[in-house]
Amino acid sequence: MIFPDYRPRRLRQNELFRSLVRETRLSASQFIYPLFVQAGKGIRDEISSMPGVYRQSVDQLAKEAKDCLAAGVKKVLLFGLPASKDAMGSGAHIKDGIVQQAIKELKNKAPELMIVTDVCLCEYTDHGHCGVIINNEVDNDSTLELLSKTALSHAQAGADMVAPSDMMDGRVAEIRATLDENNFSNIPIMSYAVKYASSFYGPFREAADGAPQFGDRRGYQMDPANSREAFREASLDVEEGADILMVKPAVAYLDIISKLRDEYDHPIAAYHVSGEYAMIKAAAANGWVDGDKVMMETLLSIHRAGADIIITYGAKEAARMLKNM
Ligand code: PBG
Repeated sequence: MIFPDYRPRRLRQNELFRSLVRETRLSASQFIYPLFVQAGKGIRDEISSMPGVYRQSVDQLAKEAKDCLAAGVKKVLLFGLPASKDAMGSGAHIKDGIVQQAIKELKNKAPELMIVTDVCLCEYTDHGHCGVIINNEVDNDSTLELLSKTALSHAQAGADMVAPSDMMDGRVAEIRATLDENNFSNIPIMSYAVKYASSFYGPFREAADGAPQFGDRRGYQMDPANSREAFREASLDVEEGADILMVKPAVAYLDIISKLRDEYDHPIAAYHVSGEYAMIKAAAANGWVDGDKVMMETLLSIHRAGADIIITYGAKEAARMLKNM
């Protein structure tokens, strides 16, 4: 059937029809909101390149949790900014580390919140790389134990799920084994399975103070030119025991999200990263785009491409907008 018998506009004539045939819907239950927790007291500093996002100390978290829950966001992803760093990133797995303290505070003050933790060393190493340096290289195998120790310490502090973002080979298996040996077989792993060496992480590195002091991350994160390799990375993580597969960044990699959605039956998460958020905010601040609408369209497109879960700095504002729709 073609025009004039078939007229696609019939089903677009008003919002009742449009909402009736809408194929994709966003819900606040899909969102995970990243939180930057900083050592110290009374700190709530806005990140200049990420308006509306703060680095905050543990004592501020109860208020932040309340704000998330009021908006309808019930899941957070924790990043830590420790008081001091060293070559081995030992602050990542110490018992009273910054993230471990944050988990306890949140579990105590806002037990209805789901706490996911980023498992990586880059915020804790003085050189800013995601693993241990041996002969000027990030050494894969000696990093694995530190990562699994970090994941375990998060679980022991009360985290609901761990999310390794380091891109070392074999880390999902190592973390799974360590969690299982310690009676945490119920803690899922959301693996940053397909993480590209992206320039869209720029604002995050300012926020988390985790920029590499020499070189870059191309020796462990994926080449943005590669698509087939995403299957190999995802397959390995599935075999190693990943429960959720993440693609990162999101908007510049919608094709990858879509392909993984078709290939795997695991839940797919996408990380709408700092640079992608910052660009919307910057354009909106200049009056060049309608920031709210562009935010919702962006998140919708990530979901439409196939992401079940969206990690975004826009979670709270998007959840509030969804309430008023
Ligand atoms: C740590 C990590 C990074 C991000 C999440 N976890 C930075 C990086 O890999 O350099 C980026 C998140 C963002 O840009 O919003 N490895």
